[in-house]
Amino acid sequence: MSALSQDLLEWYDQHQREMPWRTQPGPYRTWISEAMLQQTRVDTARPYFERFMQRFPTVSALAEAPLDDVLSLWAGLGYYSRARNLHKAARLVQEMGAFPETVDGLLKLPGVGPYMAGAIASIALGLDVPTVDGNIVRVLSRVHREPGGARLIWDLAERHIPQGRAGDHNQALMDLGATVCTPRNPKCPTCPITLHCEAQHVGDIQDFPPPKKRKKSPVWSMASAVIVREGEVLLGKRPPEGLFGGLYEPPMFRVSK
Ligand code: ADE
Repeated sequence: MSALSQDLLEWYDQHQREMPWRTQPGPYRTWISEAMLQQTRVDTARPYFERFMQRFPTVSALAEAPLDDVLSLWAGLGYYSRARNLHKAARLVQEMGAFPETVDGLLKLPGVGPYMAGAIASIALGLDVPTVDGNIVRVLSRVHREPGGARLIWDLAERHIPQGRAGDHNQALMDLGATVCTPRNPKCPTCPITLHCEAQHVGDIQDFPPPKKRKKSPVWSMASAVIVREGEVLLGKRPPEGLFGGLYEPPMFRVSK
């Protein structure tokens, strides 16, 4: 095990954040939590996760539920394609008869990309594989003073994986990135791996990772009518794909280009 991973795991054993999906881990719970956490903060995801598990405690319960029930439990979390993909994937898992047990198998599920496959494989299946999310990019970019490039960061992540504790190691990097190695004002004096951090050594942590160019979101003006009759509100269902796909809304149309 590398000295970095050893120091990191020692810290994680004492300081890991309590999360509902960390108790009773298993592929189903890990998969749902990772789907929720992909675009959502831990504290926001927590109550959604608890409600989701109560309503759909198993992959079969999810597969057999109507999509509308899944979407309504997801309401407020955003990025609804995640919920549609979970539902589609649950049906696929039911057809296959078992949850995939390899990274390649996981990658065949709708909505599962390299991050989620690595997270589920390491956390729930005990495989010695890396994963890379925004927090891990930041930590590794600073530790190695590397500006990045996805391929390079994945290679660095792989190099640090300890045998037998990849899931804890990956989650420790995520916790470290969220609580210590933060984008602004990182708390280097309390960091368990500061001795291994090249950017801290050189003194230019603020330059790593370099800022990303953000894509500009389009801005549209919409007109909508709220039509009420005898206490009922007229709602239409949006097309299944795209923004807010499959959700209900008052009739609405775009008034700007
Ligand atoms: N962000 C996404 N998945 C996470 C996990 N398993 N632990 C901590 N932060 C996360």
